[in-house]
Amino acid sequence: MPSSRAQASPLAESVAPRAEGAIAAALKKKIESREARLGVIGLGYVGLPMTLTMAEKGFSVLGFDIDPTKIESLNHGRNYIEHLDGRRLTAAIGSGKFWATSDFLRLREADVLLICVPTPLTPQREPEMSFVVETARQIRASLRPGQLVVLESTTYPGTADELVRGILEETGLRCGEDFFLAFSPEREDPGNASFATATIPKVVGGVDPVSGDLAQALYDRIVAKTVRVSSSRTAEATKLVENIFRAVNIALVNELKMVFDRMGIDIWEVLDAASTKPFGFMRFNPGPGWGGHCIPLDPFYLVWKAREYGITPKFIELAGEVNVQMPHYVLEKLQLALNERGKALKGSRILVLGLAYKKDIDDARESPAFEILELLLRRGAEVSYHDPHVAKAPRTRARPELPPMESQPLTVALLQSHDAALVVTDHSAVDYEMVVRHSPLVVDTRGIYRAPRENVVRA
Ligand SMILES: NC(=O)c1ccc[n+]([C@@H]2O[C@H](COP(=O)([O-])OP(=O)(O)OC[C@H]3O[C@@H](n4cnc5c(N)ncnc54)[C@H](O)[C@@H]3O)[C@@H](O)[C@H]2O)c1
Repeated sequence: MPSSRAQASPLAESVAPRAEGAIAAALKKKIESREARLGVIGLGYVGLPMTLTMAEKGFSVLGFDIDPTKIESLNHGRNYIEHLDGRRLTAAIGSGKFWATSDFLRLREADVLLICVPTPLTPQREPEMSFVVETARQIRASLRPGQLVVLESTTYPGTADELVRGILEETGLRCGEDFFLAFSPEREDPGNASFATATIPKVVGGVDPVSGDLAQALYDRIVAKTVRVSSSRTAEATKLVENIFRAVNIALVNELKMVFDRMGIDIWEVLDAASTKPFGFMRFNPGPGWGGHCIPLDPFYLVWKAREYGITPKFIELAGEVNVQMPHYVLEKLQLALNERGKALKGSRILVLGLAYKKDIDDARESPAFEILELLLRRGAEVSYHDPHVAKAPRTRARPELPPMESQPLTVALLQSHDAALVVTDHSAVDYEMVVRHSPLVVDTRGIYRAPRENVVRA
């Protein structure tokens, strides 16, 4: 679509900058005085904590979600994210600063709209952008001059500038003049007691400088530190680098675990010792694979985009290969340990300890536990699980063959009735001493048992 600037007459061009500046200046004033009405689209692990933080910082926030049960819960003060303090929600609702709705016509009421919807991968491991596209179309339907849109969902560089901007400009309104568009990635770390939304520095980049200024003005009032970068593409790339860094290092330490295991060297002892180096070393711990909504998925957004430029990033693919292999390694170790005890995996009863992808949270998305459960079932084992944070195994479209399962209470009888306990997640609430005392065999993927124990095998 041709730009209105290109079509404008010389006279219109001479007055346009003042008019454009006025729209941005009015919005900036509203943001600075906290009179700007904020809207958050997608009230999940990212959107809800951000919503509450903005309400706590004195803004009025309208939350949007397509899931009616979430809207109903929120408006009744019922929190559905375990690690989030429910009192924050009741306080926000009570103060009248927050209300949730699935009436998307009300997007027009907001001066600033934050997009916090999912960005998964397709089965072919390509970006699944339908949630972002659908949200951009919803905004397009009610876009008005003077609105700032900020994409927070993790994505490939160019999403805000190419995809979202294109959809919004179909209204005839111009980005940077009539409405504004920026990218600011979320850095939530669920369950991390040391950091909360308000204390984690936030990277901000505009599709254009005015949009960047407005987004910065917003986050300056919400988080302890705003890190301004030159463009939305740079901000998008920054988020991917953070997650790729983790993905690659997790793969590296997982590979080292397998190498040292063959050599009879204890990886945990090595890591404890290496961590004493006060510079130039950052510790990553091995485990049963990788999990969560970010680390196993986001790096492939860059792989996909890089192909457009004729490059295939090798580190990311390699990290994927190693991490995806880990559940198979764990199974092999379990199988060998059973074999040494004269047992086959087929017909053995295996208790999986932990479904969540990391300790002390209720999020099981992309958890390696599912791959492990599936492999166990395929090889004829009988499986049950215990997870103090995940009462029911969530059904996933990717694994329809997994039967419905519920967490079993962790008792002596449960442990004794299984041939092995397989520690997948190192939740603090589990009594690991009780586990080792009453299980015939424990397979430990998390380094829970540092001193050698007769019935413990590392995997
Ligand atoms: N979970 C994390 O720790 C984390 C950390 C950093 C970044 N991110 C990124 O943030 C984004 C959101 O992740 P999340 O973990 O909050 O996901 P989530 O699944 O917990 O929440 C997303 C919400 O969006 C809603 N939704 C989907 N389509 C919608 C639409 N068209 N309109 C309105 N609502 C819609 C869903 O119902 C859901 O409530 C993703 O891009 C993710 O990669 C997540």
